[in-house]
Amino acid sequence: MAERPRFQGIKPSPASMSTDNVRPTWCLTDIPYPAIEKEKIIDNMDWFYLLAGASFVETLSDLYTRNLVDYYRENASAILWLREEWEVEEVQHGHALRQYVLTVWPDFDWERAYQGFVDAYAPYCRTELLGPTHALEMASRCVVETGTASFYTMIRVASPEPVLCQLASRIRADEIHHYRYFYHVFLQYQMHEKNSRWRIGRELWKRVVEIDQEDSYLAIKNVFEVKNPEQQFSLEDFSAFRRRLSNLISRHYPFNMAMKMLLKPIGLPPILQKGILPLLTRMARRAFTL
Ligand SMILES: [Fe+2]
Ligand SMILES: [Fe+2]
Repeated sequence: MAERPRFQGIKPSPASMSTDNVRPTWCLTDIPYPAIEKEKIIDNMDWFYLLAGASFVETLSDLYTRNLVDYYRENASAILWLREEWEVEEVQHGHALRQYVLTVWPDFDWERAYQGFVDAYAPYCRTELLGPTHALEMASRCVVETGTASFYTMIRVASPEPVLCQLASRIRADEIHHYRYFYHVFLQYQMHEKNSRWRIGRELWKRVVEIDQEDSYLAIKNVFEVKNPEQQFSLEDFSAFRRRLSNLISRHYPFNMAMKMLLKPIGLPPILQKGILPLLTRMARRAFTL
C-alpha cells in the first residue's frame, strides 16, 4: 500500500481515544478501479445519486476547513491537524468517490454538477453558523463524523459491488479517526467550559436535525439536474429518493454504533447509558426509516 506522510500533531489520551492513532493511510492508487464489476451497480441510479452526492459534500471540505481554522485560530495544534490531515483526507474521500462514479458512469459531467452544488451551498457554510462555544462546536463535529462513519459503514455492508465495499471501508476508518480527534479536542475545551449535559445534548440534537438538510438535498439536486437536463429536481423528488433508500437504511444502517458515538460527548454514567441505549436506538431507527 502506498504510504502518505501522516501528521501526528496531537496524541490521544488513553481515556479519550482508545485505539489507533497511528494507522495506515491510503491514496487513490490503492483502490482497484479497473476491477470494478460495473454490471453489478451501473443500472441502479439510486447508488449513482448517493455516491455522486457524497463525492460533492466530501470535496467541499476545503471550505469547511477554512471556517473551522478561522474559528479555532488560537489553537495551533488543532489548526495544523485540520489543515494537514482532516482536510486532506476529506477531500481525498471526495476525489476517490468521484473516480468511482466516473468509472461506472463516465458520461456524467461531474465538474459542472459540482460547481452548481458549490454555488448553491456555499452561502450556508459560514463561520458565524458554527457552534456557540469551542467545546460545543467540537461536539457538533462529533455528530457530523458520526453521520459519515455510519454512512460508510452502511455502504460497506450494503454495496452490491466489491470495489465500492473496499473504498467504503477505507473512508469509514478515516471518519472514525476524525471522530476520535474531534472528541479529544472537545474534552480539552470542555474541561474549561464545563457545559452541562443538558446543553451538550441540546447542541448535539440541533446538529442531528441540521445534518441532513441543505447539503444532501442540494448535492442530489445538482447531480440529478445535470444527469437529467430536461428535468427539475423538487423536494418531493428528494422525499421519494429517501423513501427508496429507507429499505437500505433500515437493513444496514448501524443505528447502535451511531447512538453510542452520539451519546459519548454527553458523558452519561455507564449504567444510565446502557439502560437508554436500546430505546434511543429503536427511536432512531424508527425516525430514519419513516
Ligand atoms: Fe469524509
Ligand atoms: Fe470525516
